[in-house]
Amino acid sequence: MAEKILVTSALPYANGPIHIGHLVEYIQTDIYVRFLRSCGKDVLYFCADDTHGTPIELNAAKQGLKPEEFVARFYELHKKDFEDFGISVDWFHSTHSPENRHYSEYIYGQLQAKGDIERRDIEQTYCERDKRFLPDRFIRGTCPNCKAPEQYGDACEKCGKAYSPTDLIEPKCALCGTPPVRKHSAHLFFKLSRHEAFLRELLKRPGFLHPGLATQLQSFFEKGLADWDISRDGPYFGFAIPGETDKYFYVWLDAPIGYIATTEKWAKETGRARSALDYWGPDSPTRIVHFIGKDIVYFHALFWPAVLKVAGLHGPSEIKVHGHLTVNGEKMSKSRGTLVSARAYLDILEPSYLRYFYAASLGPGPEDFDLSLKDFRLRVNGELVNNVGNLANRALTMLAGPLEKRLAPGREGPGKALVEAALARIPEVREAFERLEYRNAIKVIVEIAQAANGFLQAQAPWAKVKTDAEAARADLSDAADIVALLGALLSPVIPRVTEKLFAQLGAPPLTFAALEKARYPLLDRSRPIGTPEPLLPRLEEERVNALIPPSPEQPAAKEAPKKGEKKAEKKPAEAPAPTPQASPGAGAGGAPADIEYDDFAKVSLRAGKILAAEKVAGADKLLKLTVDLGEAAPRTIVSGIALAYTPEQVSGRRVVVVTNLKPRKLKGIESRGMLLTAEHQGNLSLLDPGDMPPGSVVK
Ligand code: MSP
Ligand code: ZN
Repeated sequence: MAEKILVTSALPYANGPIHIGHLVEYIQTDIYVRFLRSCGKDVLYFCADDTHGTPIELNAAKQGLKPEEFVARFYELHKKDFEDFGISVDWFHSTHSPENRHYSEYIYGQLQAKGDIERRDIEQTYCERDKRFLPDRFIRGTCPNCKAPEQYGDACEKCGKAYSPTDLIEPKCALCGTPPVRKHSAHLFFKLSRHEAFLRELLKRPGFLHPGLATQLQSFFEKGLADWDISRDGPYFGFAIPGETDKYFYVWLDAPIGYIATTEKWAKETGRARSALDYWGPDSPTRIVHFIGKDIVYFHALFWPAVLKVAGLHGPSEIKVHGHLTVNGEKMSKSRGTLVSARAYLDILEPSYLRYFYAASLGPGPEDFDLSLKDFRLRVNGELVNNVGNLANRALTMLAGPLEKRLAPGREGPGKALVEAALARIPEVREAFERLEYRNAIKVIVEIAQAANGFLQAQAPWAKVKTDAEAARADLSDAADIVALLGALLSPVIPRVTEKLFAQLGAPPLTFAALEKARYPLLDRSRPIGTPEPLLPRLEEERVNALIPPSPEQPAAKEAPKKGEKKAEKKPAEAPAPTPQASPGAGAGGAPADIEYDDFAKVSLRAGKILAAEKVAGADKLLKLTVDLGEAAPRTIVSGIALAYTPEQVSGRRVVVVTNLKPRKLKGIESRGMLLTAEHQGNLSLLDPGDMPPGSVVK
């Protein structure tokens, strides 16, 4: 029986938008899955939203929503982001689902039955005002070691020391500022310590985990594996623990079970399996591969395999760990505007560019890698647009124009040698994809394209076509073979582009499976080619830079470090809610201080045209506007002009827009820009740029 492969990406929290950091993982996984499918493998790819835990519960409350409603909104957004980036999951589900409840209860029942759950009374920090236990991240105080103020309850960001919340000097509840008290409560522990031998063996298994990381995890054993607290007291958004009162499964217990729940949902919906147990059952022949970031290794490499083993289920065969994305050399951060959401990216650029750049940067290890806007642009333009794109464009336009779309039969000569040399490199590319050495795969692909461009340069078919059309046709047909090969090799990385490429070649898409038997000539030379069109436009500097607008309101140097960002990535489940956005016009007190000319120059003002306007439910001051700014797609801007204008009055109007503000959420709608208005004694009037076209610069 053919091996089945089940691949997962870590489940994004339903607590914020998908951003370009998450996309490192989703693109890395998607390339792997598309590659395996192209090889003809039986592979499934699942992901879901991770919906439970304290931060989500609190954020929902802040927006006046039930947690169910709050996570439902992110579900729709995340699903759309996945689709638009071409992340080809077989199903995208949610951990707040009946399937996940079922498997969480089932697995917990198994752990109990095997004697692996122990009840213990523990003392924890509690806020009497909020009537809730406070996770470490919801406690602030002065570091006992270096005396840095405003540190979290688990470790100091300044000096790096780890401590327990009770060690903090003057601890406070991060929600209300009240000094917390200690309070007893019974918790349920999974007896991880009983599985030390199993885990030690597992970590030694070749291919299970990156050896460097496996070594790092050894330190857990040296300290002695602690049992794992899997319960939380209410109020908590999660599944109630059967047989307990006001106790819930800790989000990290039910989150990975979401992988199983998604398999179950897919099986039910598609009828392609009887249940998830076809894949996760104890005798399953499935190779289960988890893709995760380096911040969540111990959940996946220690807790999860132990839980599955005790529950009598099939565990992961491989855990693929990637590093974190930095932007322009620094950790992504909201205040620097580098936490670019998937949607903000899509509003500006085609996803293929980012998919390509990530592939060109990714190796198999957990090292961080950087997205510098400059490298991004230069690399994409140099390799993808000028090299691959240009080859396709040159070959196909000439074949389509003077040569009437007909190809020449294969023949001996330098063209054949070129194609055969390229075919000989397929195994290198294949292996590179298999081993997640994507950057090596890209390197070989670029070299193949370069060789073909060199061939055309030497043969100069554009000159030959005037004297010996058939010789030109032969050269160009061989170049078209290389284009087809590049289409196949790049199909896991930029599927939308390569699909277009095959349409232009008039050929069915070539798969890695088909390439196994590939011989010269690659294309069926008796078929006419299709109609060539430019594949991907060059990346323009201004366009790319618009991904990270300079932040005018807070020059980075003067700004106090923002809390909740740095560590939020490490332990997202316990991170406090992001600070709510300031309301429009807030903070205008006395006369504003003078600023430098340079500071003002950071503000990008553009003429725009309002295409559509509607009221925002529950906010009588706000209108939701669709504004054309001369970009690829119009933007959504939420503006506080509803008391002065009706939607009908503003539709079609020209306006002046601040275009490089960081996006912000107003009433759950992401607003990307601000309209300029003049105000006098409560009367408000929109500034008018005259009839300049959308996108015109306002200075
Ligand atoms: N919900 C948990 C995972 C549960 S899996 C059973 C979680 N969610 S997350 O939204 O914080 O992150 C999802 C994935 O994105 C993680 O694997 C994380 O490592 C990855 N990334 C988040 N930020 C990232 C970067 N800046 N760079 C690369 N990957 C990043 O953790
Ligand atoms: Zn409190």
